Amino acid sequence: MDFDRYDRIRPIRWTGDRLELLDQRRLPFAVEYLACTTSDEVAEAIRTLAVRGAPAIGIAAAWGVVLAARTIEAPDGAEAVHKLEPAMDRLNAARPTAVNLAWALARMREALGTAGPDWREVIEREARAIEAEDLAANRRMGALGAALIAPGSGVLTHCNTGSLATAGFGTALGVIRAGVAEGRIQRVFAGETRPWLQGARLTVWELQQDGIAATLIADAAAAYLMQSGKVQWVVVGADRICANGDTANKIGTYQLAIAARHHGVQFMVVAPSSTVDMATPSGDAIHIEERDPGELHGVGGVRTVAEGIPAWNPVFDVTPHTLIDAIVTEKGVIERPDAEKMRAAFG
Ligand code: MRU
Repeated sequence: MDFDRYDRIRPIRWTGDRLELLDQRRLPFAVEYLACTTSDEVAEAIRTLAVRGAPAIGIAAAWGVVLAARTIEAPDGAEAVHKLEPAMDRLNAARPTAVNLAWALARMREALGTAGPDWREVIEREARAIEAEDLAANRRMGALGAALIAPGSGVLTHCNTGSLATAGFGTALGVIRAGVAEGRIQRVFAGETRPWLQGARLTVWELQQDGIAATLIADAAAAYLMQSGKVQWVVVGADRICANGDTANKIGTYQLAIAARHHGVQFMVVAPSSTVDMATPSGDAIHIEERDPGELHGVGGVRTVAEGIPAWNPVFDVTPHTLIDAIVTEKGVIERPDAEKMRAAFG
């Protein structure tokens, strides 16, 4: 498959002395990179969604550690890790639900722990490896996931899981890219993903950049779309996959899974193994991020709700594993996931 033709966007650029993040708050009308020269600027970019998507925030945090390393002196990795702990804590606290953030920081910590006097080069190599491995995993998942989709199918996706949310190519959008390239997917629908509109502002723009035609729907139109017979698969990403297969993803994913099961539409979760969290037994143990209720009070900075109305804004939900037909990681496909199959795959 010609990957490059369908994969042109890169949201994270390391220049050697700063981290440049494609500012997702400004898309689709401004394509601007935000320059971060300190780890606290990276933490703030993660918190404010300048960079977002589970794998992308892990990669950004890894580079944040490299930036933090410039502010300390240490003879070896063990002392460096001790001095870097406060900066890593602040990076880790930027967002709670996607496990990739903690996972990437744990990897940086581990690399430092065994490093000698060349620990600065070691962590730069580690950050680069985390990024490169993510891109490779996405391409592998694209092939594995697309193979499950029968030629001529339609798919619905949610949020943004593409190049913008990863090192490149994307997770669920990677499967869609591969499925379109192979002629399996004929129709792509994307939900708006209120309130932050990742689907409307990011996903359909990203697909347009790569020449993939996608139709935007209101989130509320999803069940009717499924009833119409136009989609055979819902394909989504994940922020955390638990030991029993329960999956946290963008708010609205759970109701898509319920509607899919009702209509005989299949439901696929696509995520790298860095999103699998075998230490969390099931979805009820996941910390669900709640963001500013103000995100619900207006659109594009224009207030649409009367003053004095309270709003509840959880930004993730958990889809029980019983509603998932396939979890696709770079290690393979798990059909009808449960605790036993997860243990066999991830130990
Ligand atoms: O709040 P966001 O935009 O960071 O949420 C992103 C999602 O929920 C994605 O679906 C998930 O991180 C997978 S991205 C490959």
